[in-house]
Amino acid sequence: MAAPHSPRKAGTFVSTISENTQDREDDQNRSDAQNRENAQNWGAAVGLQGDRITIRGGIPLVGRIELKGAKNLVTKAMVAALLGESPSTLKNVPNISDVRIVRQLLEVHGVKVTDGAEPGELLLDPVDVESAHFAAIDAYAGSSRIPILFCGPLLHRLGEAFIPDLGGCRIGDRPIDYHLDVLRKFGAVVEKQPNGIRMSAPNGLKGTKVSLPYPSVGATEQVLLTAVRAEGITELKGAAIEPEIMDLINILQKMGAIITVDTDRVIRIEGVERLEGYNHRALFDRNEAASWAAAALATDGDIFVGGARQPEMLTFLNVFRKVGGAFDIEDDGIRFYHPGGDLKPVIIETDVHPGFMTDWQQPLVIALTHAHGVSIVHETVYEQRFGFVDALVEMGATIQIHRECLGGHPCRFGQRNFNHSAVITGPTKLTGADIEVPDLRGGFSHLIAALTAKGTSTVSNVGIISRGYENFITKLQLLGADFDLEG
Ligand code: EPU
Repeated sequence: MAAPHSPRKAGTFVSTISENTQDREDDQNRSDAQNRENAQNWGAAVGLQGDRITIRGGIPLVGRIELKGAKNLVTKAMVAALLGESPSTLKNVPNISDVRIVRQLLEVHGVKVTDGAEPGELLLDPVDVESAHFAAIDAYAGSSRIPILFCGPLLHRLGEAFIPDLGGCRIGDRPIDYHLDVLRKFGAVVEKQPNGIRMSAPNGLKGTKVSLPYPSVGATEQVLLTAVRAEGITELKGAAIEPEIMDLINILQKMGAIITVDTDRVIRIEGVERLEGYNHRALFDRNEAASWAAAALATDGDIFVGGARQPEMLTFLNVFRKVGGAFDIEDDGIRFYHPGGDLKPVIIETDVHPGFMTDWQQPLVIALTHAHGVSIVHETVYEQRFGFVDALVEMGATIQIHRECLGGHPCRFGQRNFNHSAVITGPTKLTGADIEVPDLRGGFSHLIAALTAKGTSTVSNVGIISRGYENFITKLQLLGADFDLEG
């Protein structure tokens, strides 16, 4: 059984904007305190022995690390097990706190989750699925957005589902309107309650036509997880087609689903009456691979990332090469390294797949502070994913953030008050500082910054990093980083 998270207070993960300055400051203080509590819980859940790292920078990271399955697939694959009439086996599951959260949420719904014979193997038995109390879901959700994806499967299995107020990383408001619209279209009745949302399906769920206003990853998964057991045919237009979604489709097909992926982001699902458990090895984590690649480049290092594959990383590899990084693609992974010479500036626009992933920009920004010239990163997926650069500026980086859409096409954030374009002027040398991890990928970016900086840095709230990076402390040790973990 996983180490339990201490129950959080409902609704304290503040993401709304208050009217006056004092309220905003109070909200920010509450949000910071909640972020610290979350960080400690997340770290403790995977056995992290501290929450603050003191890093002595300037040492190239060199060596080999191994990846496991993608956080952004594995957590959804675990939810998919709820749809089966028999147990599922999921392999290549990383020991990260997001997996712990989903495991606990499944367990409070009566799913038996046990460790399998090989490391990273989970057995998920959903035969006795039952409703969970709102308070139990809220206690284990730990500010994760995953409970929203339980809704379709639970409505099929039990006719009702509850979700607490949702959190996730602090990278913007992250609404759930697409999810609720989708569920209503299938026939769910959605009721707002004081601490969250209750859903029911008095007449069952029926196939429908859905057209997403934006190719949202989560909303596409919501449609898939709901449509596979809904009566009749569902047509989804404007679907996200990330490799993790394709692997979720692989899993659902193994379970008995009928899903067709057409061109132009159209997915058709023929509902079936019964699904069985699956046996699946999860796709590797390309976001983790890109993060270690960025660390190799920024530290003048050389890292072999075991388990990384080229097809899912094509776009990243192009940009990595343009910045001046080198890579060798092998059968069992990819070697990423700094081949010598100056790094070059680039213009990046984040986008849905097959574009440049938003999750890749934060770690890569550190290498861009070393590049000779002006780089631009236009973030078009999240409206506020540059909170992490304040710490980099404090360390000596020259980065300006702008409201305008710079360096590419106008995006949906351009006419609104969102600081979503970054201009990075290099080369600058970073010096050590005391910094605090704001969110998962921003936190990894802070680690890289500290590893490249002259002198000593203290990075706190590192528990947040364990949401998505398995054994990152051990990996840093393996790669020769000089640091102490405390707190
Ligand atoms: N959006 C809405 N309404 C909704 C849902 C989404 O407006 O109901 C907006 C979001 O606010 C955002 C955009 O749509 O601006 C895209 O969000 P999406 O739904 O695609 O993201 P997600 O499913 O919440 C997943 C990953 C993220 C990753 C994004 C984009 C998981 C658990 N999370 O989030 O991963 O950045 O897709 O690829 O799969 C991370 O790993 O650090 C991370 C944040």
